[in-house]
Amino acid sequence: MKIGERENFGSKLGVVLAAAGSAVGLGNIWRFPIETGQNGGAAFILLYIICIIVLGMPIMLSEFLIGRHTHANTAGAYRMLAPRTQWKWVGRLGVFTGFMILSYYSVVAGWTAEYAVLAASNAFEGKTIEDFPRIFGEFASNPWKPVLWLIAFLVLTHVVIVRGVNSGIEKFSKILMPLLFIIVVILVICSVTLPGASKGVEFLIKPDFSKIDSSVVLSAMGQAFFSLSLGMGCLCTYASYFGKDTNLAKTVLNVCVIDTFVALMAGFIIFPASFSAGYALGPEDIGPSLIFITLPNVFQQAFAGAPVLAYIFSVMFYILLVVAALTSTISMHEVATIYLSEEFSMSRRKAATIITSCCIVLGIFCSLSFGVLNGFRMWDMTIFDLFDFASSNILLPVGGMFISLFAGWHLDKQLFRDEITNGGIIRAPYFRVLLFILKYVAPLAICCVILNQFGVLF
Ligand code: PHE
Repeated sequence: MKIGERENFGSKLGVVLAAAGSAVGLGNIWRFPIETGQNGGAAFILLYIICIIVLGMPIMLSEFLIGRHTHANTAGAYRMLAPRTQWKWVGRLGVFTGFMILSYYSVVAGWTAEYAVLAASNAFEGKTIEDFPRIFGEFASNPWKPVLWLIAFLVLTHVVIVRGVNSGIEKFSKILMPLLFIIVVILVICSVTLPGASKGVEFLIKPDFSKIDSSVVLSAMGQAFFSLSLGMGCLCTYASYFGKDTNLAKTVLNVCVIDTFVALMAGFIIFPASFSAGYALGPEDIGPSLIFITLPNVFQQAFAGAPVLAYIFSVMFYILLVVAALTSTISMHEVATIYLSEEFSMSRRKAATIITSCCIVLGIFCSLSFGVLNGFRMWDMTIFDLFDFASSNILLPVGGMFISLFAGWHLDKQLFRDEITNGGIIRAPYFRVLLFILKYVAPLAICCVILNQFGVLF
């Protein structure tokens, strides 16, 4: 396929739901509650929201305008806007990062599918706190089952991608996202009305500022990047399918509101249910264990007198995770597929097949790192942990930093203004503030995050 020979999203709703589908994922339902639990509850949430407004929104707007202006894959976009420079590497880095995230993210996505099936077959009934770590441990270290789920999940993503932008990404987003909202709302209502749930609600809305220190600020920033799918050209790629009349700033606002809303609601599902079951989430609940060990137990305890409710709650929760993960894996896959297809002139199907096959191979290594390959470590990390750390904690922030430097310093100001105002039709009174953030605030702040990862700063 050549740059320019492509479909656009068919409707404004399609644009918002597809972009929100990318943003809303395991990051909201799995990672956000863990970060909130560990970093002081409401105080962390407040910081997180500040990070979304100050850093997330300007960088998302930059990705949108770069993609929409060029109508090209992320590497092609930088090449077109900065010909004969090294900026194209920002796009290529994004493709590489997305590819890495997709490989390990699909492993966890596969686990959510197994748990949806376990929940549906009522495998959790009557199980106690001792049983769940064993169930999860046996599953994750099994050499076959998680690998088969990983392959199934990637093949499902592949099928959607091969169908194209309109009948694949847009159509599925329009079905899956409303389903996700409905499940979220039902689960929140069930959770906050449990006896003793108010303590969990209080934890989420009453800030304790004494908990805030530099590492909490940095965690909030990292979470904002991951959750908004920023820093790897994902939203830049989706924006390349936006029409000329799409209001970019409004779309940014919609996506950020939806993403934050779902993250907060995930908190309102998990904490009230946990507190009601007499389970205050502690440091030992970090990582995969939260949704695969702690929560199935919490659901059993919280609805102890009503097994039917425990059943429905668990099934809906894991379906929610599957749906959220799928709309995100689709977006990561698209970045790499359209890159291969346009840059190496190959059909969409062929490009998608190459990406799916390579991700399956890498994903298998990530998956086996919970079992037979557990002893294989680099810098003291398993393959899965290494992929997670390198992509989310280093490559995404580095990508985000270069995107903001590109938009703030390199991009022609008139082009920038034309894109966000749709050629002068929409007002953009925030333009100067936006440029200031992109030039100075965002790059410096992100630099701090990265240095902190290596223990240089704090
Ligand atoms: N934002 C997604 C989530 O919250 C993860 C993601 C990261 C998706 C980067 C695409 C790109 O789960």
